[in-house]
Amino acid sequence: MSSLTLHALPQKLLKNRRTVLLAAATLAASPLMARTGNAKPLVEVWKDPQCGCCQLWVDHLQANSFAVQIHDVGNNAARKRLGMPEKLGSCHTALVSGYVIEGHVPASDIQRLLKEKPQALGLSVPGMPIGSPGMDGPEYKGRKDPYAVLLVQRDGSSRAFNRYPGDRPMAMSGRSHPA
Ligand code: CU
Ligand code: CU
Repeated sequence: MSSLTLHALPQKLLKNRRTVLLAAATLAASPLMARTGNAKPLVEVWKDPQCGCCQLWVDHLQANSFAVQIHDVGNNAARKRLGMPEKLGSCHTALVSGYVIEGHVPASDIQRLLKEKPQALGLSVPGMPIGSPGMDGPEYKGRKDPYAVLLVQRDGSSRAFNRYPGDRPMAMSGRSHPA
């Protein structure tokens, strides 16, 4: 923000409530940006407050230098509003730099997305594959199932953006039972 804008603020403040709110928001945001210099990308997350794997995914994002803003209101409405097809759905929906992120997408894939900036709605890991970030709690005992991160277009089509082979190739047949 320029100092010019700052000087102009007090007069604008008197004009109306909307301006006051806008100015307050701007002023609140500026010290953070000044302090971090290169601001962390903000990920807005819609999730269910009861969902443990959602919180673990949020922890994974924060551990990988993302700032996270949580809306604990479930994610069905947000997914629909943001245009992510239900068939590609998972337990949480997020928004970062205009991209929709559905499910347990690894932070490294989000970082690659933000770097490459492809034409797309966003990324999805449909369902909740065991071994993906947030689905890797102690109860899964290190089990890693294969899964793909999908690059999703606004028309609902998708292709693999990245693949995680997992460490149990037998599980890919869908016929084997856990030991
Ligand atoms: Cu989950
Ligand atoms: Cu979740």
